[in-house]
Amino acid sequence: MKHRLAIFASGNGSNFEALAAACAKNRINADVALCVCDKPGAYVTERAKKRNIRVLELRPKSFSNKAEYEQVILNELQKENVDFICLAGYMRIIGATLLQHYEGRIVNIHPSLLPAFPGVDAIGQALEYGVKVFGVTVHLVDQSLDGGKILSQAPIPYNGNDRDELEPMVHTREHALYVETVAEILKN
Ligand code: GAR
Repeated sequence: MKHRLAIFASGNGSNFEALAAACAKNRINADVALCVCDKPGAYVTERAKKRNIRVLELRPKSFSNKAEYEQVILNELQKENVDFICLAGYMRIIGATLLQHYEGRIVNIHPSLLPAFPGVDAIGQALEYGVKVFGVTVHLVDQSLDGGKILSQAPIPYNGNDRDELEPMVHTREHALYVETVAEILKN
């Protein structure tokens, strides 16, 4: 049986694209059932529409709290029989409502070798620190910020400090590692 995947994203969606392409090519044993986006109009929503993937666009601020916001998402996930969630540049901490139902079945990609540089702009943080080995991490999601058990990592040796040069290296590595890791988890 194919898994039913939801991908949560807030921005450009290049990781969304890599996962969706891998599903379409059966490299990942799943169909992308839903794209959840908390920034209406973000480029990821166009990517999803081009692939005929249903998009759920929500404004978190229009809900009175996180539980109410996540309950709406949960209802849609259940309607779509989603059994696994990938966060792909979703810049929001997952709360108890979603974790209770999907614990151990939510993963995230982060552009650093965690536990170094959690949170926003990990690449900028690492450059600022003068890091010589950058990298990317796929991890299980819990209620912490980019915490949770590490599932896979890839180092990126880089001696310079040119963000424009480094960033594409990080993204390319992310796409490969995310697809590889999710394919392995969902192979059965
Ligand atoms: C990616 O680099 C991802 O690792 C990062 O946001 C970017 C989204 O790019 N996520 C985090 O920083 C999570 N804390 P994309 O929209 O092109 O996939």
